[in-house]
Amino acid sequence: MLKTGLSDCYNIADLRKRARRRLPKAMFGYLDGFAEDGVSGRRNRNSFDRFQLVPRVLVDVADVDLSTSILGQHSEAPIICAPVALPRLFHHQGEIASAQAANDAGIIFTLSTLASIPMEAVASVPGPKWFQLYMYRDKGLVKELVDRAKASGYLALCLTVDAFIGGNREQDLRNGFSVPPHPSMRTILETALHPAWCWDYLTKPKVTTANVSGDRIAGSEGKTTLLEYVTKQLTPSVTWKDVEWLREQFDGPLLIKGVLCADDAEQARNLGVNGLVLSNHGGRQLDHTVAPIDVLPEIARRVGDDLEIVIDGGIRRGTDVIKAIALGAKACMIGRPYIYGLSAAGQAGVKKSLDLLRAEILRDMQLLGCRSLAELNGKFIRIGE
Ligand code: FNR
Ligand code: LAC
Repeated sequence: MLKTGLSDCYNIADLRKRARRRLPKAMFGYLDGFAEDGVSGRRNRNSFDRFQLVPRVLVDVADVDLSTSILGQHSEAPIICAPVALPRLFHHQGEIASAQAANDAGIIFTLSTLASIPMEAVASVPGPKWFQLYMYRDKGLVKELVDRAKASGYLALCLTVDAFIGGNREQDLRNGFSVPPHPSMRTILETALHPAWCWDYLTKPKVTTANVSGDRIAGSEGKTTLLEYVTKQLTPSVTWKDVEWLREQFDGPLLIKGVLCADDAEQARNLGVNGLVLSNHGGRQLDHTVAPIDVLPEIARRVGDDLEIVIDGGIRRGTDVIKAIALGAKACMIGRPYIYGLSAAGQAGVKKSLDLLRAEILRDMQLLGCRSLAELNGKFIRIGE
């Protein structure tokens, strides 16, 4: 049996190291990198430090309940797999492995519009799923995607509004990252140093944006950076009018992903949106944004009674999740953490990432003296400098 090294992984940072080892530099750069100077990306992590936990002692924490309900959907833990473009770039099992591991963990899996496996095939894996929507220039195509998502059983739609053009990811340009991957003479040697990935890539079907066809497939006109594709195919003219339009097309739960301002949160509520994902796209789009965890308390005060709030960006530890829930979030999305696992070892790696986070949340809840997510509130938090 191939040694995956998973047994030596004690946290998400260890999984990241395994992913780095298995992936060629260009793939790891696309996965791990931030836009421009990485200020948003680092702030996502560092902002958690400001929120300090105040434990209660001598509470019977023999039975801690981590289950919750997110927009009417039961979940065994307050974590959700975030939408990630083209997971098959990292491991040929891609979304199928990820959705399977999410189902085994009893949590929701979100499929990206830019999926590498068609949404109908991913829907055949059991378990609750959301579909993340990007607004293509062609509204007819968006309508088709919405109808297909509905017909194949996706429970909610999540409209991402912070990536209508590609962010400035200089490492992708420097590394020659393209879709389909196309190692240049410069990178061929480096790529060859990652034989497991190479074998996977060379022996499996080409990685494409599988939810769309014809010239809307990434790389259909030769190699392109994925971000060029985004800029070409998606519309920078997407506005609240499109949210109104979408609200009319889909009567299930609708979330907007990429909100960071309380006024936008109110606007979303006024248009009948059901949930928000407070997010700066993992620091991959606009640099120097506020961190989602920093705006969570204000947004929860403004719209928390009407909208369910999810946050993402830099969640790496159980304590991060606990802080977010205590400050008013219903759940946290994780992006890179489960993709590190996928990159390291396919489905077993995704499972490992989810197991690690769940075990941390459970242990930390016990040490905090809190028995359920419903009991977790601002009283457990002190805001430091
Ligand atoms: C993303 N993200 C993303 N978001 C989205 O709405 N649609 C998408 O297609 C993608 N694609 C994508 C690819 C890769 C490789 C990454 C790492 C991220 C953003 C993602 O959903 C989420 O917001 C961030 O990943 C959260 O930050 P962390 O958990 O990665 O720190
Ligand atoms: C990304 C896009 C495609 O973050 O959403 O890479």
